[in-house]
Parts: sequence; structure tokens; C-alpha cells
Amino acid sequence: MKFDLISIFPEYFSPLKLSLIGKAQEKNLVSIAIHDLRDQADGVHKSVDDTPYGGGAGMVMSPVPWGEAIDQVLLGSSAAIHDLIILTPAGQKLTQSLAQELVECEHLIFACGRYEGIDHRVTRYYQTVPHVRVREISIGDYVLGGGEVATLVIMEAIIRLIPGVVGNPQSLVEESHSLPEDAVEYPNYTKPAVWRGLDVPEVLLSGNHALIKAWRNDQALERTQKLNPQTRG
Ligand code: ADE
Repeated sequence: MKFDLISIFPEYFSPLKLSLIGKAQEKNLVSIAIHDLRDQADGVHKSVDDTPYGGGAGMVMSPVPWGEAIDQVLLGSSAAIHDLIILTPAGQKLTQSLAQELVECEHLIFACGRYEGIDHRVTRYYQTVPHVRVREISIGDYVLGGGEVATLVIMEAIIRLIPGVVGNPQSLVEESHSLPEDAVEYPNYTKPAVWRGLDVPEVLLSGNHALIKAWRNDQALERTQKLNPQTRG
């Protein structure tokens, strides 16, 4: 799976060297290339933004360097389909099922805008380009300073679903959002059996797998109700 990330702050992506995603790269399960948008900007100031047509506060990113940067990435790829992800708080909300859909993609391009976002013609133009699917994605109902952190979140959600990335694939099957009820995960315990006067729930020490399963199910449903009663459980 190939990832191309475009940003004016390439250093934002240094955490990708670490942990799960770092290992996935070492194992060649994913390949990640980072591109500096300013390499496509002209003039002494290498400016990538301008004032909005129609007035208003803030600056809008120019479609010109974005078009150059995305075209260059597309030209350098032999993938049959390219998914161009434009990060914006106005996009489709990231969910576990969207992550599961994205892990099936061959080539993901992340366009990380800053300021008031990218000139909307970038979305409109690439919607007309054959073999490119444009997806505007948000990681939640709040406004970040740019798309870089959102990209890290989405990549972590996707990459851990690639077979071979997470050590024990059963943990993916068992975990919260894969439960049919869409419940959150049950609470987990490990050794020691008593810590600061607190015991591990007796049932977990019973060795009775049916009882443990039923207890975990109840706990998951109870937590789901408490955490998010409107949308879950
Ligand atoms: N850029 C700014 N805020 C964002 C958000 N919530 N999700 C994705 N990209 C963003």
C-alpha cells in the first residue's frame, strides 16, 4: 500500500518512523513518501496562499501549487486507482468502517491544507480526472490548524488493519468497534491480581470461558450506554 503525503510542514510526519507504522515500513507492508508543497511554489517568498474571493477572514491555499504537487504524485504512480484524500472539517467523518474501506485502497494521497483550507477547485478538478477518487475527510467536529494531525490519525487507523501489522490479528477481531453491537471495548486487566487494594474481577480468574465472554459482553454494553447513549448500544 502506497501513501503520498503533501504538506507545507513535512516535519509533522516524523512520528511515522515510530512503533507500528515504523515497523510496517520496515516490513515493506507500506511505503510512505512525504512531499513539501513549497517545492511547487514560485517567487522569493514561496507563497502558497492568498486572500479569499468574496472577502472574509484568513487565507486560502492556492490551487496552483496543489495541482502541480498532486499531478507529480500521480505521474510517479503505477496504481490503477488513486484515492485523493483532502482533509477538511467539512468532510465525511472518519469511522472504523471508513478505515476498513480505505485499507482496501492501493494508493492514498493525503492533501493537508492549512489556514482556511484549499481552493475548492482542487476537489472539483480531480473529481473529473479518470482513475482518481476524491474523498474529503474530517476526523471530528472541531477545527484543527491543518490536515497533518488528521492524516496521522487516519493513517494509524488504516495501517493497523493491514494483515501482518498487528502482532495478534485476533485482537483486531475482538476489539470494540468490530463487535456486532457497535459497542466499545470491555475493561481489561493484567497482573498483579491485587493492585493498591483493588482486585481483578473474580470472573476473569475463573477459567470459565463462557462466563468470561458473557461478563465482557455485559461490561461492553454498559460502558457503551454510559459513554455515548445517543448513538450506540
Ligand atoms: N483540518 C482542520 N480541521 C480538521 C478536521 N477536524 N479534520 C480533518 N482535517 C481538518
